[in-house]
Amino acid sequence: AFSSHPIVVGNWKMNGLQASLDQVLAVREACATGAAGRCEVALCVPATLIAQAASLLAGSRLMIGGQDCHAAALGAHTGDISAEMLKDAGAKLVIVGHSERRANHGETDAIVNEKAQAAARAGLTPIICVGETRAERDAGETLRVIGRQIDDSVPRGSNPEATIIAYEPVWAIGTGLTPTEKDVAEVHAFIHRRLATLVPTGGKDMRILYGGSVKASNAAALLAIDHVDGALVGGASLKAADFLGITGVY
Ligand code: G3P
Repeated sequence: AFSSHPIVVGNWKMNGLQASLDQVLAVREACATGAAGRCEVALCVPATLIAQAASLLAGSRLMIGGQDCHAAALGAHTGDISAEMLKDAGAKLVIVGHSERRANHGETDAIVNEKAQAAARAGLTPIICVGETRAERDAGETLRVIGRQIDDSVPRGSNPEATIIAYEPVWAIGTGLTPTEKDVAEVHAFIHRRLATLVPTGGKDMRILYGGSVKASNAAALLAIDHVDGALVGGASLKAADFLGITGVY
C-alpha cells in the first residue's frame, strides 16, 4: 500500500548550473497544476543554487534542500557550510551521511549523527542515509550493517515528523540495479522496527525513503512496498520530466 504521507526528494549531487534553474521552475509548475502528484516534493540542489532556487519558490509546495552540512553552526571550517547557512538560504531539508560522503570524505556514523543534530538545531529536516555495499550484501551482513548505521547515525530523541531516513544500497546507486521488492520490504520493515527502539513515539511517523536507481519505470512498484514512504532520486531528478514521472506515481 502507498504511504499516507509520502515525499519524493531529488538529489542533484554535483550537477547543476544557472541554466538548471529552469528544471526547478518546471517542477514548481507541475506542483502548482497537480501534475507532480500528491506527495511532498523536494530538490536537493548544489549549494551554489540553493538561495536562487528557494527564491523562486515562494508560495510553492516544492521545497529546496542541501546535500550536506557541517556539525558546527559557524567557525573556522574553510569550504564547509553549516545547517544554519542552508536554512538562511531558504533550504528546508538537508541530506546527511550519503554514501558518497561516507566513502569520499570518511564520514562515520558518529559524524553523520552530529550533522543530523545540527540540521535539527537549525530547523531543517535531516535526510539520514544508510545502505550496505555489494560485499556486505553478498556476505549476508545487510541487516547487521543497516542496524548499526541506524543505531549510531540517528540521534536519540529525533523528532519523527522532522526526520527522514533514506535506505540506499550502495550497489544500487547510479548502476541501474535495484534490490528485489522482497529485499526492499525486508530492509524497510527492519528499519521501521529498529527506529521504534530509538525514537520517543516509536518512530511510527518517521518516513523511510528508498534510493538507488529509481526511475519512472520502476517507481510504482518500489513505492507500493510497505514502509516505503517515498524515494530519494539521483540521476532521474536532473530533468524535470523524468523526476515528475516518479512524483506522479502518488
Ligand atoms: O541520493 C540519491 C542517489 O544516491 C541515488 O542515485 O542516480 O541511482 O538515483 P541514482
